[in-house]
Amino acid sequence: MKFITGSNSPEQNSLVGDIRVSGDKSISHRSIMFGSLADGKTEIKGFLEGEDALATLAAFRAMGVNIEGPENGHVIVHGVGMNGLKAPKEALYLGNSGTSMRLLAGLLAGQNFSVTLTGDSSLSSRPMGRVADPLRLMGADIETAEQGRPPITLNGGASLKGIDYDLPMASAQVKSCVLLAGMYAEGETSTTEPAPTRDHTERMLAGMGYSLSRDGACTRLTGGGQLKAATIDIPADISSAAFFMVAASIVPDSDLILRHVGLNPTRTGVIQILELMGANISLSNEHLVGGEPVADIRIQYAPLVGIDIPERLVPLAIDEFPVLFIAAACATGTTVLTGAEELRVKESDRIQAMVDGLVALGIEAKGTTDGAIIKGGCLGAGHEQVDVQSHDDHRIAMAFAVASLRSSSKIVIHECDNVATSFPNFASLARSVGFQLIVEA
Ligand code: S3P
Repeated sequence: MKFITGSNSPEQNSLVGDIRVSGDKSISHRSIMFGSLADGKTEIKGFLEGEDALATLAAFRAMGVNIEGPENGHVIVHGVGMNGLKAPKEALYLGNSGTSMRLLAGLLAGQNFSVTLTGDSSLSSRPMGRVADPLRLMGADIETAEQGRPPITLNGGASLKGIDYDLPMASAQVKSCVLLAGMYAEGETSTTEPAPTRDHTERMLAGMGYSLSRDGACTRLTGGGQLKAATIDIPADISSAAFFMVAASIVPDSDLILRHVGLNPTRTGVIQILELMGANISLSNEHLVGGEPVADIRIQYAPLVGIDIPERLVPLAIDEFPVLFIAAACATGTTVLTGAEELRVKESDRIQAMVDGLVALGIEAKGTTDGAIIKGGCLGAGHEQVDVQSHDDHRIAMAFAVASLRSSSKIVIHECDNVATSFPNFASLARSVGFQLIVEA
């Protein structure tokens, strides 16, 4: 599937609207996982019906969990308890979803059945040694393909022991994997992270009655606990909202309201970075929903300036860099990103994919080992059409759709099918606020 954008010379119309983007992907995954392991019936509202979260849902169905829905974001999970999962008949296929694979590896390492986890070609090239290594330290019997790539096979019946694990990289997936294995391990398990990463696992486990303690970078829990069913109201995904935040910031006279967005402080780096660049963002109706902060975000056009992005904000905005690169390309001056080598092992090498697309659009951009240097300029100048590859990466595809709002050329964005992994109604919502975007099979 391709996105074909309009050419926006001389001026793109302003973006105006009041919208709610789809549900948070990270929280959607966890709601199915923990709902399945809880005792009782968990009701979920606002579930993201994207392919990644649906892959998690299908995996738990394949392990014997009765799950009703999803229907308009409404899901009912009939939990089977911590030890109620059954061996799936086949390998669990997790599509494009790194979160499903890494968290499931932790949850399934201590079961009494064997299971194999597989994925699509992008997922099959992503590093899983980062979860296999700590799981082996805990006593898991785990196999991966060469260089720690998927598929992952977890051989059942291993008895796990708690460990104290210092994470070698800032990764919520690795942290969650170890903590989830820890629920099935003898004794105490702790994780210590080098920088704060999203803490939805910790919040949801605690909200469902699993006792854990948190002290700065260290989280601890003891194996053998139980989860209680809950009602889970999933906010809109700030990572999806980010495309609209940048879009409104770069198109003159824009004024967008994004409703009920999750504002967990481990996820709000994108707001802080855009504000440092001069963006005009205001929050209203701030409140807590199921232990997660939520608010409406209003974002109005404001001229952006290039900045050196503070490294402490990098893990707090890790999924938002593709679209932040577009903000940088539309800013006055130069933006420098460092400390972001993790971007090279996401659904694509996001540094390379973004730099290549920006260069094709005539922007001076250079990748570095751990980031990029981007000089603001005129997108698409001198071209009628520019072709950009998204490398099957949803966030690269959506980022270049945002770039088109300031491009004087038409942009054809290739390999956009995977937008459905995190934001299935992106194109229609984007058109509803003023994007010129055609989807072609
Ligand atoms: C996620 C964690 C992040 C993020 C991914 C979702 C999660 O990955 O990039 O989209 O739900 O835990 P890392 O923890 O590997 O950085």
